Amino acid sequence: MAVFVTRRIPAEGLRLLSQASGCRVQQWDSDEPVPRAELLAGVAGARGLLCLLSDRIDREVLDAAGPGLKVISTLSVGFDHLALDEIKKRGIRVGYTPDVLTDATAELSVALLLSACRRLPEAAEQVKSGGWTTWKPLWMCGYGLSDSTVGIIGLGRIGQAVARRLKPFGVSKFLYTGSGPKPESAAEFGAEFVPLTRLAEESDFVVVTCALTPATQGLCNKDFFSRMKKTSVFVNTSRGAVVNQEDLYEALAQGRIAAAGLDVTTPEPLPTDHPLLSLRNCVILPHIGSATYATRSTMAVLAAKNLLAGLRGEPMPHELQL
Ligand code: NDP
Ligand code: DGY
Repeated sequence: MAVFVTRRIPAEGLRLLSQASGCRVQQWDSDEPVPRAELLAGVAGARGLLCLLSDRIDREVLDAAGPGLKVISTLSVGFDHLALDEIKKRGIRVGYTPDVLTDATAELSVALLLSACRRLPEAAEQVKSGGWTTWKPLWMCGYGLSDSTVGIIGLGRIGQAVARRLKPFGVSKFLYTGSGPKPESAAEFGAEFVPLTRLAEESDFVVVTCALTPATQGLCNKDFFSRMKKTSVFVNTSRGAVVNQEDLYEALAQGRIAAAGLDVTTPEPLPTDHPLLSLRNCVILPHIGSATYATRSTMAVLAAKNLLAGLRGEPMPHELQL
C-alpha cells in the first residue's frame, strides 16, 4: 500500500507508518511545503495520503492520485483545505485530529488574548528600545479580564476550553454564538447564546474559535467591528478567512476597537509588509496554536493511526463523518 506524506512530521508518527506491514511510505522530507507539482507526482497511485492544513486537496490532487486513493489523513482538526464534496463522491475516507490539540490551542488563545489586552509585545519592545524611562501612572495601560464580558464565536471543543481557562480570571459573563444554542456545553460557564450582533456589541473580549465554513467566511467584517466597543479586544485562533482583514485593519488603525491578537491570517505566512504588521495594537503569531512538542507528536501518531486504520478498512480513531 503506497502512502504519500506531504511534509516532515514528528518521528513517532512516521515510525508507525514505516513499520506497518505492507505500507510503502514516500515522503516530502522537508519543513517547507511540498511544491504543487511534487504533490501531484507524489500522490499518483497512492492508496493513502497524509497531508497538512497548508496542502489544498482538491479535484486536481484527487485526479492525480487516481481511483486507488482510499484514505486521506490530515494532521489537523480543521478540514477547510479538503474538497469534501469531491472526496465523498469518490468514497474516500478522511481522518483528522480533534481533541488532542484542544488544550494547547486554548492555552495559546489565552496567551494571545493577554498579550493583546495587556500590550505585552509593545511593552517588551519599550524595554529594549529605551522607551522605559521611569514608572509612569498612565503608561502602557491596557484592559483586564476582571468583571468583563467574553464573547466566544464557536463554542466547540476549543471554545469551551478557552472559556474554562478564562473563567478563573474573574470574567463576569460569557456570551456565545454558533449554529444554535448548546445548553449542555454552555451550562458550565453560564454562557448565553446570542446573535452575532449582540455578541459584538456587549463583549469586552471576542474570541473566535469556530470552524471555517461558507457560513463563517468573512463573518467578522466592517459591520461586526463597528458594533464592538472602542475598548474591546478581538482574538482569532480559528482560520484567517473568518475575518475580513481590511475591515479589521481599518477598525484597529482608526481606534474603533482597542486591540487584536491573531494566530491565523490570510494568507499564511502574512507578507512582512502587510499593513496589519505596522499596527502597534495588533499582535500576530505564525499559526502556533497547537505547537507544543507533546501535542504535535500526539497529532502525528493519531494521523498515522487514522491512516493505517483506513487502509486496513478498520474504524479510525477519529474519522470525519462526510
Ligand atoms: P469544533 O468542531 O469542536 O468547534 C467548531 C465550532 O464552530 C462549533 O462549536 C460550531 O458551532 C462553530 N460554528 C460553526 N458554524 C458557526 C457559525 N456560523 N457561527 C459561529 N460558530 C460556528 O472544532 P474545534 O473547537 O476542535 O476547532 C475549531 C477550529 O479551530 C478548527 O476548525 C480550526 O480551524 C481551528 N484550529 C486552529 C488552531 C490553531 O493552531 N490556531 C489549532 C486547532 C484548531 P455549532 O456546533 O453551533 O455549529
Ligand atoms: C488545526 O489543527 O486545524 C490547526 O490549525 C493546527 O493544529
